[in-house]
Amino acid sequence: MTGKCYKFADLTSPTAKASQPLDYFPYDWTIKNVRTKPTPLGRYVLTAVCGVWTPALRCQAGEAGRRDMRCSGVHLREITSDNREAVCALRVRKRQKRFVASVATSLKDAAKAPQKNPWYRAVYRGDEPVGFVMLAWNTPTDDPGPGQYYLWRLLIDKHHQRRGIGYEVLAQIVDLVRADGATELLTSYQPGEGNPEPFYRAFGFQPTGEIDDGEIVLRLTLSSR
Ligand SMILES: CC(C)(COP(=O)(O)OP(=O)(O)OC[C@H]1O[C@@H](n2cnc3c(N)ncnc32)[C@H](O)[C@@H]1OP(=O)(O)O)[C@@H](O)C(=O)NCCC(=O)NCCS
Repeated sequence: MTGKCYKFADLTSPTAKASQPLDYFPYDWTIKNVRTKPTPLGRYVLTAVCGVWTPALRCQAGEAGRRDMRCSGVHLREITSDNREAVCALRVRKRQKRFVASVATSLKDAAKAPQKNPWYRAVYRGDEPVGFVMLAWNTPTDDPGPGQYYLWRLLIDKHHQRRGIGYEVLAQIVDLVRADGATELLTSYQPGEGNPEPFYRAFGFQPTGEIDDGEIVLRLTLSSR
């Protein structure tokens, strides 16, 4: 079971405010013990639930910095009738909804645009679905979209954000498209407060200067290594 996602500011800072709303609380609530008591009618009643806060699993940066950070246990899986419902139940925060369509909408968009060669996967950490990623994969050069390899949708469920999972997904996607011969990966984001630009910038994406359908276009140039 995952704890509520709030965190307090860095309280060592003299200007910190404990009530400042932030993105995550880096602990998970884990139920350790549930006690029940039999009633005369033969039913059980819940008498106590014990749990502990444990540090949330966070991917570690390598010695050479974030570029080396790999997040163990994160992998991409196909979406089938077995996991479709669970993946469609993933949610971003309320204020992030304007930046990304839901998984269900994305799957419908993919079905409506076969010319974009939609490629999508569920993101898993261990056996738990935690996100969704969709690309327009090596689209024909005459396609009106921003680029041949275009990161079309990416979302990490609100309970799993800021743990390095999004970064790891980008790293895996980059490996995949590079192996397919891509020399660049494009994406775009809707401007507005809380937009994902810092996330993409932290990975190395740069603005191209173009605007596509009101969205700011970013490019990651892929080295041949
Ligand atoms: C954007 C998103 C995919 C990032 O996934 P994530 O797993 O939370 O990101 P990571 O933990 O891998 O973050 C890696 C780095 O990116 C930067 N970053 C990520 N989210 C950030 C945010 N909200 N504000 C500022 N920087 C952010 C940070 O540098 C972070 O490293 P740090 O946590 O050590 O400071 C996720 O927040 C999300 O699903 N957002 C809603 C949907 C969305 O906007 N998708 C993109 C559509 S274009």
